[in-house]
Amino acid sequence: MDTVIPPTIDVHLTPADLRAAMEADVRSGLTSVPKQLPPVYFYDDRGSRLFDEITRLPEYYPTRAERSILEAHAKDIVAEAGADVLVELGAGTCDKTRVLLDAMRDSGRLGTYVPLDVSDTTLWEAATALSEEYPGLTVRAVVGDFHQHLGQLDGPGRKLFAFLGGTVGNFTSDQRAAFLDGLARTMRPGDCLLLGTDVIKDQGRLVAAYDDAAGVTAEFNRNVLHVLNRDLGADFAPDRFEHVARWNESDHRIEMWLRSLDDCRVRVADLDLEVDFAAGEEMLTELSTKFSRDALRDELEACGLAVEDSWVADDDEFVLTLARRP
Ligand code: AVJ
Repeated sequence: MDTVIPPTIDVHLTPADLRAAMEADVRSGLTSVPKQLPPVYFYDDRGSRLFDEITRLPEYYPTRAERSILEAHAKDIVAEAGADVLVELGAGTCDKTRVLLDAMRDSGRLGTYVPLDVSDTTLWEAATALSEEYPGLTVRAVVGDFHQHLGQLDGPGRKLFAFLGGTVGNFTSDQRAAFLDGLARTMRPGDCLLLGTDVIKDQGRLVAAYDDAAGVTAEFNRNVLHVLNRDLGADFAPDRFEHVARWNESDHRIEMWLRSLDDCRVRVADLDLEVDFAAGEEMLTELSTKFSRDALRDELEACGLAVEDSWVADDDEFVLTLARRP
């Protein structure tokens, strides 16, 4: 009988580091033209709950589509990767991870699980739950971010790096190139990357997925203002900002913006900063890039990764791509 192995957690990002990063991001974002905020600040407890609600909306297909691909093909994915270490980037609550862990266990390949996330509480809860659910599994959680701490993910064994949910779409193309390059360097020959990406499709469906009838995404978008009010002593009036979701044709991405309904001055006490919004002015809060199969293959190849296989949901709405470092 396998026994439960207590998880370990390596902390490379302290609360003070996160605070300093938030201050710098918000200062530079609110003083740029156009104003912008990084999407990472959506996800406090309320924002994470709202995102969870989004994943169950009729209009928001990516989570369901990716889950159905994993459920149908986890066995093939795991067999092709031939890995005994699963490294998950931006692990969150490790929900879809279980499908991959089950497939690894069934094929007798379950060795180590390495989740990386910025939130130590989420990670700790998930790591504890998974080590209990999978006796014999070594869980080595890493608190860090995927720009700075990829180097901390190295260790023995053949690895499968999973970056799911379409989150790679949040990066600009420059950020994405830097991220994929850093990741490819972290990988050892033979290691694989499993990447979930949303697909370019009918504009109406894309926009609806980010502007649902129930208004959950609008509330999720405005949540970043509540976060800034609470954490940085800002005085945004969130209900005076309107949710905008727009398809950017040339960069093939959905953009979420917050549009100020009034001329207003916002003070951010903790930054000793005052910024003015004109009525109608828009602030960029998220990019969600959609990919064609060819563009994605080119980007992976540009950093030395070879696409080995890919799996799509029934109607081609979402793709999982498996790429290997030769
Ligand atoms: C979690 C980044 C993949 O871009 O679709 C959902 C976030 N934003 N609705 C996405 C999100 C608005 C989501 N990701």
